[in-house]
Amino acid sequence: MKNDFNKVAGFYDLIQQIAFGNTLVKAAAYFLNKLEKNSRVLILGGGTGKILNYVGEDIEVDYLDLSKRMISQASAYRSEKIVFIRGDFLEMQLSGPYDTVICPFFLDVFCQDNLETVLSKILMLLRPNGRLVVSDFRHTGKKRDRILIFLMYLFFRVFSHLESRNLPSIHSTILKNGFRLEDRRFFRKGLIFSHIYRN
Ligand SMILES: C[S@@+](CC[C@H](N)C(=O)[O-])C[C@H]1O[C@@H](n2cnc3c(N)ncnc32)[C@H](O)[C@@H]1O
Repeated sequence: MKNDFNKVAGFYDLIQQIAFGNTLVKAAAYFLNKLEKNSRVLILGGGTGKILNYVGEDIEVDYLDLSKRMISQASAYRSEKIVFIRGDFLEMQLSGPYDTVICPFFLDVFCQDNLETVLSKILMLLRPNGRLVVSDFRHTGKKRDRILIFLMYLFFRVFSHLESRNLPSIHSTILKNGFRLEDRRFFRKGLIFSHIYRN
């Protein structure tokens, strides 16, 4: 299976912590204080569930991940008002509309074609003037970052059969698919971003 994070689920948070400290969690959580009370949210590729610490308890969440082990770890965090769904977003039929869709380091696993498909699916699931919150990596042009990204993809290609061979150009693909940027924040000298968009 492609993008199979089951093998790494048990030590995913540890590798993340060693490589980036707390930055990935900080980036994923950065705009979550903008979630409206009692709104309906879809979290895609949420992973081990740390992000749930930053989602208000009054918010209704659908939490989707392809990995059974990731889902089982995430469900230990909190269960009230959360529906955990194990499945492939590319194949799932979800019932929108959602006020916000959150993609925490999720879009970087896809090749360009599937990234476009994922974004058009998100667009269909969002209510008009809904929000898309994306945190991920970006190319900075710096040699050090190029090497880091190369090693990360190599690692996940070996252990998770990542379908993508390289970091896609996430921000420009999102804009091309009809979203407009509302706010943004960079971390680690621009290597990591957190963006919030409107459809
Ligand atoms: C790079 S990890 C990020 C995990 C977490 N969001 C974080 O920031 O630590 C990507 C996550 O997306 C999930 N994933 C990959 N492809 C998927 C798909 N097609 N549908 C749903 N989830 C998927 C993986 O199982 C994994 O948990």
